Amino acid sequence: MANYYLQRSKTLSSFSSSIFFTFFLLLSLTSNNGGMIIMIRAQAGPPSSTRLTGLFPHLFFTQDFSQVFGGSNVQIYGNGSFANITLDKISGSGLASKNHYNYGFFSAAVKVPAGFSSGVVVAFYLSNSDMYPHNHDEIDFELLGHQNHKGWVLQTNMYGNGTTTGREEKFRLWFDPTADFHEYSIIWNNHHIVFLVDNVPVREVPHTEAISSAYPSKPMAVYATIWDASDWATHGGKYPVNYRYAPFVASLAQMEMSGCIYDPKDLSGLSCSRSSNPSSLDPVEGSDFVKLSNQQMQGLQWARTKQMIYSYCKDKRRYKVLPPECAQKNN
Ligand SMILES: *[C@@H]1O[C@H](CO)[C@@H](O)[C@H](O)[C@H]1NC(C)=O
Ligand SMILES: *[C@@H]1O[C@H](CO)[C@@H](O)[C@H](O)[C@H]1NC(C)=O
Ligand SMILES: *[C@@H]1O[C@H](CO)[C@@H](O)[C@H](O)[C@H]1NC(C)=O
Repeated sequence: MANYYLQRSKTLSSFSSSIFFTFFLLLSLTSNNGGMIIMIRAQAGPPSSTRLTGLFPHLFFTQDFSQVFGGSNVQIYGNGSFANITLDKISGSGLASKNHYNYGFFSAAVKVPAGFSSGVVVAFYLSNSDMYPHNHDEIDFELLGHQNHKGWVLQTNMYGNGTTTGREEKFRLWFDPTADFHEYSIIWNNHHIVFLVDNVPVREVPHTEAISSAYPSKPMAVYATIWDASDWATHGGKYPVNYRYAPFVASLAQMEMSGCIYDPKDLSGLSCSRSSNPSSLDPVEGSDFVKLSNQQMQGLQWARTKQMIYSYCKDKRRYKVLPPECAQKNN
């Protein structure tokens, strides 16, 4: 499922502006390598981006979600607005939305565990493997823990209609995801899929002919989970979860899910019919959700040139023949 290589980007080669170059020279004179990298990272934030989070009501973990596994490892607090999900020696844990959605906007604020976290995965994703075990769809945010406590890596992925082709991309984060809550959001509609981090788009999958057979298009539920991915995420089990550092606790908040709620009793699908005159804020057909703004395009370019460290479209060792959408711009 996953590609095990974390390709290290050539961080320094991308700084071409003379301001950065001067800054870099100054730093190399005044500090050691570790300090230098950290300070440069702190300087290189994303361009400001259109705010899509906070437009919809926050949902409650008590009434809008059910626990899917982990017993007492799920703790809900703050009147249902917050949940802590824990991985310990006994079990991981997770929640799923009660509703399935046929397109929409899905967002959660997540804080991942501090400290040694190798092999730990915190996932916020959409899936319908419960309803369609043989041809399921999936859209994934996966935060992958690492030996270095600030080294969490963001992975995005998608599967459509039972495809097994992994379409992973990996990003270095521009903040410490263990220190505060950050917003991870997914736009999913008939026009595109967009992954956003703190409202900055990091990946767009346009719904083109090339990807149509692998484009998720059946109702999905929303999941938030923490689990032991020792065998999967860490170079084939080289750095497994070390339970001396357990429990691993991820905190969730500001859950937003807005879109077309699927009614399983409505075979006509009319409960999900589109308004002919949608508001710009309709996540399914509204203008703010069907196309990225110029500002969002700039954020996307920034994320992909500065923060991306792996793309399946560049992995010719894995795919002798690259998936067809890889021929398109931006991939
Ligand atoms: C607690 O949540 C309920 C809905 O579950 C809401 O009606 C109520 O206003 C909330 N109370 C506070 C203090 O936020
Ligand atoms: C999804 O797969 C099923 C068979 O598994 C097929 O009948 C259907 O046409 C596929 N849908 C799309 C959109 O490719
Ligand atoms: C939830 O987890 C955070 C760590 O992210 C911890 O500081 C807090 O005490 C936990 N709250 C509850 C109610 O378990």
